[in-house]
Amino acid sequence: MEHIEFRKISKSYGAVEVVPPLDLSIEQGEFIVLVGPSGCGKTTTLRMLAGLEETTSGDIFIDGENITDKRPGDRNCAMVFQNYALYPHMSVRDNIGYAMKVHGAAKADIDARVEEAAGLLGLSEYLDRKPRNLSGGQRQRVAIGRALVRQPQVFLFDEPLSNLDAKLRVEMRSEIKLLQRRLGTTAVYVTHDQVEAMTMADRVVVMRSGVIEQVDAPITLYERPANKFVASFIGSPSMNFFDARIENDQLLLGHQRLQLAAQEAERIGDFGRVIFGIRPEHCRDSEAAAQLTFGVEVIEPLGSNTLLLGTVGDQKIMAQVDPRFAAQADAPSTIPIDMSAAHFFDPITEVRL
Ligand SMILES: Nc1ncnc2c1ncn2[C@@H]1O[C@H](COP(=O)(O)OP(=O)(O)OP(=O)(O)O)[C@@H](O)[C@H]1O
Ligand SMILES: [Mg+2]
Repeated sequence: MEHIEFRKISKSYGAVEVVPPLDLSIEQGEFIVLVGPSGCGKTTTLRMLAGLEETTSGDIFIDGENITDKRPGDRNCAMVFQNYALYPHMSVRDNIGYAMKVHGAAKADIDARVEEAAGLLGLSEYLDRKPRNLSGGQRQRVAIGRALVRQPQVFLFDEPLSNLDAKLRVEMRSEIKLLQRRLGTTAVYVTHDQVEAMTMADRVVVMRSGVIEQVDAPITLYERPANKFVASFIGSPSMNFFDARIENDQLLLGHQRLQLAAQEAERIGDFGRVIFGIRPEHCRDSEAAAQLTFGVEVIEPLGSNTLLLGTVGDQKIMAQVDPRFAAQADAPSTIPIDMSAAHFFDPITEVRL
């Protein structure tokens, strides 16, 4: 069932349109992540859904009801912010129960729900502490608890993990994901971190300059990026791109010729100029492998694999190879390229071929 629907939602500040009319449908219980570079309009889009930002045009529906003009408090959405926004003088218990208290709930009901939320979040032993006596991760859990007790229809998260250290971020992202799945509450989550997006989302919305570039499951974004922007944004380390030509089922890269994989040859056998994309991890052997020689400049052994950085002609390349691969800095090296994992983009529109 469609739960949330943006219909031609846009936002302008004065004459500057930061989000051009945007359409997006979100299903009941889905975990949707909005991702994109800084300033692309993620927070603005989320805040329009929360009612914290007026829309310039368009309509937002929740469960078929037009909520565009409803006050934030009447939308049944609960938001978790990056900076937690906890009340420093209140205990954890009072912070979590605050919204219920304001809405005039009975004390027994508040206590019951606060304790339930604290149990879910592993905060039961900290209920009487003040936020300043908690770790960053615990504070973030309190902020989530505050959203939880409202039993909203929709959770909204704006970069909730960006103030945590790397290890805690990894822990918290699986906790949030687990909790959301257990409760079955629809979630819209904003981040600029593509790894967070890929690991948490049922579907990822990739944005650039207010425009949605692609909406898809994480694996689809990785395997079939709609354009060069999405291809470069998703995946770590990033995809390599080369100006190349396709002629007679072969890819011409500088003066080297790489045989296209059979199905690609059939599809785009003689296209002419293209942008050729290959991920560092696809510099590997396969049935469709072609050999590429390039000048290795830097070797970075990471243990589980080794990164080779260098150039093909005047174009940069990064290859992720087996740690036992024998390469030498300042010398040419020949590596296999799995052409069945190759990507091709139109050099003018940058759209996937
Ligand atoms: N009150 C405002 N007045 C004018 N421009 C604004 C205002 N708020 C945001 N903007 C502009 O709108 C654009 C989108 O901002 P937004 O905060 O939605 O980006 P974001 O994708 O969340 O970025 P970040 O990853 O840095 O948080 C930016 O170019 C920003 O400068
Ligand atoms: Mg933001």
